[in-house]
Amino acid sequence: MEDSNTKLIQEILSLKKRRNAIILAHNYQLGEVQDIADFVGDSLGLSQTAAKTDANVIVFCGVHFMAETASILSPDKIVLLPDIHAGCPMANMITAEELRQRKSELPPGVSVVCYVNSSAEVKAESDVCCTSANAVKVIESLEADEILFVPDQYLGHYISTKTDKKIILWPGFCHTHIRIQPQHLTNLRQEHPQAKVVVHPECRPEVITLADEVLSTGGLCKYAASSEVKEIIVGTEIGIIHRLRKENPGKKFIPASEQAVCPRMKLITLESILWSLQEMTTQVKVPEEIRLKAKVAVDKMMEIGRG
Ligand code: 13P
Ligand code: SF4
Repeated sequence: MEDSNTKLIQEILSLKKRRNAIILAHNYQLGEVQDIADFVGDSLGLSQTAAKTDANVIVFCGVHFMAETASILSPDKIVLLPDIHAGCPMANMITAEELRQRKSELPPGVSVVCYVNSSAEVKAESDVCCTSANAVKVIESLEADEILFVPDQYLGHYISTKTDKKIILWPGFCHTHIRIQPQHLTNLRQEHPQAKVVVHPECRPEVITLADEVLSTGGLCKYAASSEVKEIIVGTEIGIIHRLRKENPGKKFIPASEQAVCPRMKLITLESILWSLQEMTTQVKVPEEIRLKAKVAVDKMMEIGRG
């Protein structure tokens, strides 16, 4: 296994050089994928890196909406998603048609904010986009007092506890994060009384109220590295534990639930990355008409930056 990985890694690295490619990986990727990436980060960090790279090819080790966002920001690059089935189920919980219909039912003056976990078509129908790292800051930047937030009802609910604006929710959710239950946190707190509990804002409200910190995946990595805390109960997808342990060897990270796995993220493997670079597939390219509209929403988010 070790030998075949070593050979695979050598082939990936040499082909990456030949293609002038950069490998970007989300914090939930398999450990061996994170280890060969040029950059590992959260949705916002990945978008920022994709926007400024001078590589010709971006190999996106994440899910489809992340590759689309890279294509929106860097239309001249070839964006490769090593497995075309790596889609985010939550992003598929709203279509552009459904959003248009919902907008037509709302009074004028309501702004539409879409979570970056959405299709390019949905972004094209939205006023501004946000990630979990800047959602509250994005909402606060808007003049409107009423916001339609799509598609994650739990992130939307979390935002509503941090702002005076009225947030109209869409009934989307993340299958992975809803597996984390309040009981997991209460049991683990008893076993690890010194530990801090950090959860992702995609968790259910009853989980969020039990947490010490509510952070994006990038925010969690920063918190783990910069705080004095020695033990953290991690309320998000368990792939991030690899990075947390690697960057903080003296600290202890306890998954809130071993069931918090995003199967679509795990579709990307060393084999699929090599295949992707060999065949230059699967290319993700947003049609220009949609891209230009979606870019307005994404650019506003990028200007706001991290929360
Ligand atoms: P982050 O932007 O915090 O990395 O989250 C992305 C995601 O898909 C969480 O499930
Ligand atoms: Fe989508 Fe949830 Fe997977 Fe994140 S963890 S990519 S929101 S399904």
